[in-house]
Amino acid sequence: MGLFAALLCLGTVLSSSLRAFSLGSSCSAPLNGGTAAPGDPYWLEIIQHQGTSAFNPNPSSYQVFRNVKDFGATGNGVTDDTAAINYRSVRNLIIDLRQIPASTNAIGLHWQVSQATSLINVVVEMSTASGNNHQGMFMENGSGGFMGDIVFNGGKYGIQVGNQQFTVRNLTVNNANIAVSGIWNWGFTFQGVTINSCQVGFDLTTGGTSQSTQSVGSEAIIDAVVTNTPIFVRTSTASNGQLGGSLVLNNIILNNVPTAVGVNNGPTVLAGGTTTIASWGQGNVFSGTSGTPTFTQGNIVSASKPSSLLDSSGRIFGKSHPQYANYAPSQFISVKSQGAAGDGHTDDTAAIQNVFNQYSGCRIIFFDAGTYYITNTISIPAGTQIVGEAWSVILAGGSAFQNQNSPQVAVQAGAAGSTGLMEISDMIFSTAGPAPGAILLEWNVHDPSGQQGAAGLWDTHIRLGGAAGTNMQASQCPAGSVNANCQAAFVGIHLTSGSSAYFEGTWVWTADHDLDAGNSAQISVFTGRGVLSQSAGPVWLIGTASEHAALYQYNLAGAQNHWIGFVQTETPYYQPVPPAPAPYSSTSVYSDPSFSSSVNMAWGMWVQNSYSIILFGAGFYSFFQNYAQSCLNTWNCQSQIFNIDSVSTITVYSLSTVGVTYQLSVSLTGVVNESSNQDGFQETLTVWSR
Ligand SMILES: *[C@@H]1O[C@H](CO)[C@@H](O)[C@H](O)[C@H]1NC(C)=O
Ligand SMILES: *[C@@H]1O[C@H](CO)[C@@H](O)[C@H](O)[C@H]1NC(C)=O
Ligand SMILES: *[C@@H]1O[C@H](CO)[C@@H](O)[C@H](O)[C@H]1NC(C)=O
Repeated sequence: MGLFAALLCLGTVLSSSLRAFSLGSSCSAPLNGGTAAPGDPYWLEIIQHQGTSAFNPNPSSYQVFRNVKDFGATGNGVTDDTAAINYRSVRNLIIDLRQIPASTNAIGLHWQVSQATSLINVVVEMSTASGNNHQGMFMENGSGGFMGDIVFNGGKYGIQVGNQQFTVRNLTVNNANIAVSGIWNWGFTFQGVTINSCQVGFDLTTGGTSQSTQSVGSEAIIDAVVTNTPIFVRTSTASNGQLGGSLVLNNIILNNVPTAVGVNNGPTVLAGGTTTIASWGQGNVFSGTSGTPTFTQGNIVSASKPSSLLDSSGRIFGKSHPQYANYAPSQFISVKSQGAAGDGHTDDTAAIQNVFNQYSGCRIIFFDAGTYYITNTISIPAGTQIVGEAWSVILAGGSAFQNQNSPQVAVQAGAAGSTGLMEISDMIFSTAGPAPGAILLEWNVHDPSGQQGAAGLWDTHIRLGGAAGTNMQASQCPAGSVNANCQAAFVGIHLTSGSSAYFEGTWVWTADHDLDAGNSAQISVFTGRGVLSQSAGPVWLIGTASEHAALYQYNLAGAQNHWIGFVQTETPYYQPVPPAPAPYSSTSVYSDPSFSSSVNMAWGMWVQNSYSIILFGAGFYSFFQNYAQSCLNTWNCQSQIFNIDSVSTITVYSLSTVGVTYQLSVSLTGVVNESSNQDGFQETLTVWSR
């Protein structure tokens, strides 16, 4: 048996008893907290499960909701439940390895994943015996992703991770030998880390500086508290004017940690003690329009953090995925029970709008698994809480969304100027093509005063094309074709000027391949824009990604007070055939960038008239030119990918790029040549500021 296959799960999964209930009649009183009694089962276990997979060949017999106990798991803490449990999304789980001998190479979670996967609220209990071989999580590769609210007690390693990119928020490791073992990456952002009584906090395999040798490329850590741990960060090789291990440390509180940063069997790079590290970096630092790097192992610029982005202790604010554990099933309303079909064909516009009109603020709106076809704007009033079931889909299509010169909103989160709660989790927004005039999600709502993060998305994604029901699959949109019927949306998400937003684990994906075709064939689907933010903030984009839109993946236009990290983008594989912005056109109405014969590929990020923006970990990738990849060897699939105008104030930490000549441009002139920053397969710039 391979070490990697040892997924053992002996935890308590869900509470047991079943209780009958019926969904209540129409709303009489606003929700005012949960009414579940202590010991009541979790609402999701007992709510009526009438969700379907609309485009499954046999939706009436395919089971969507599966309680592991129905598949033979016992949850009694004794029986081996391994075979009964299988997951993409793992939540609310305690995994206890302590019944396994300390010498056994036992792994709590083998988590080798890509985007749109989620791991939240998980605890792994392990041996605390000296020299034990337990391991909380093992991830050797993948292209992630977000995980959060995870706790590891004991073990040889809390987590051992290798992946292109990841955002980890709210990680706690107690009493492990090594809290985080880094195998390889292009970039990880850790936000909110607590380490107690370990031997080493971060133990990083470094030294890969060429395309063929990949190690930990960059690690950006903010808001950590490390206690009684001899070494906070240890790299395997020294970084002497070479990269191979870019580090950014911000607001790191050390209590009895003698070495802050050191080299294994080598020198101390930064002494520790009982102290706070405000802003420290290792790697190449750039400023303004100078392309000359300054290799630094020392203090780096500390971006001033707008107070609206911080919690009461001065850390970047975080809000966990709402799970409504204290709510009783009677506090939810099912959209299917209210007449929505969710079958992917029936027009559910009116039925869904009616549910919001009647129940917003009075019930949590439960979208039973299904695909809800809408043909006009759905307006979600401020004050609404929505939860899907294993990614319920809202699919916009029809004549309202055909005109890119007069785009229409599909899903509107809050009326313009509105203030209130808006929690949307576990949903997918999509279109049935063609829909070149669809503004898929217009985000207008703003947090009420004193309620940070009240308006947000958790594990909610935009998915365009590449799935049954979208009309934009391999048969209609084969790779290399330019079919007007394969235009999927005008823009994925538009944050308007009056909005605030907390987005955690949101992926805006124009499909590059067909998920539902057997061979995952590549496809050419065209979306105009990824994410446009004109918001004055506060905006938190935590573990978000945007891929394959024609003009840009992110456009910050008149944006302010944004926290962004780790952010990941990919340029469309078809470009420059046709050249950007085709088959869309640029318009000043939406503050679009302009294009030319030399600037003819999508921007990863375009920043204009934007202030107080903190980019803390980014990966902007360009892997193709018209589907060919030879340009990767010469780092010129694309010339420029990240442009900042002459006035915006943005501080950039830990930026990795792939396949791009200039990693960063100012006013359309390339500034940072990738050749300065080779750091494995990717190039990494440790800091850029004005
Ligand atoms: C990921 O890692 C596994 C186990 O080491 C390996 O079998 C697989 O080929 C890897 N996949 C990629 C895409 O690197
Ligand atoms: C961090 O995670 C713990 C559970 O692991 C949770 O109790 C706490 O509220 C989380 N904190 C934040 C800021 O998300
Ligand atoms: C980037 O730097 C390399 C090495 O100095 C140089 O050969 C190359 O021409 C530069 N690229 C551009 C576009 O200036």
